[in-house]
Amino acid sequence: MKKVTAIYPGSFDPLTNGHLDLIERGSKIFDRLIVAILRNTEKTPLFSLAERRDMMEAMTEPWKNVSVDTFEGLMVDYAVKVRATAVLRGIRAISDYEYELQMALMNRKLAPNLETVFMMPAEAYSYLSSRLVREIAQLGGAVKGLVPDLVQQRLREKLEPAHRFEDVSTSRTGKKK
Ligand code: PNS
Repeated sequence: MKKVTAIYPGSFDPLTNGHLDLIERGSKIFDRLIVAILRNTEKTPLFSLAERRDMMEAMTEPWKNVSVDTFEGLMVDYAVKVRATAVLRGIRAISDYEYELQMALMNRKLAPNLETVFMMPAEAYSYLSSRLVREIAQLGGAVKGLVPDLVQQRLREKLEPAHRFEDVSTSRTGKKK
């Protein structure tokens, strides 16, 4: 029987519980699922490619048909390279639909044999995004329950030195901390 390899592309900066929910769902319907982390060329990510890969590998370890890779350039070229026939994308709300539809149709134009498959994460994650997690963490808010404990820890390690520096500089000026 034909085995289906799918890729789940994204920035994953950082990965959230919503991403993991989708990976679990994808691992059940595809024979092989490759989480493909984009090496962002336009924006500067919070976590380096190596850091994002490391966290994703640790968190997807339980699913034996899931592997992690990185890519740059066109997603469809990467899909052809790894012989994937499907692309998994998550849709949280109607607001995601327009962008996702545009991307899926453009990818279909570029690679007609590659099918985009949309899945919905659990309702509890429908408002969750990496961008909001980054913003909340950078402003000192709690991200517990939104990301795995490992990611929470790495966010703390990455952002704490900045807070410590802030403390030092304010105390040096003599102003109240
Ligand atoms: O997690 P994101 O940022 O929503 O993922 C977007 C991603 C990585 C799927 C998309 O930006 C992408 O495929 N980038 C690779 C470049 C590419 O193929 N662009 C053409 C899209 S039609």
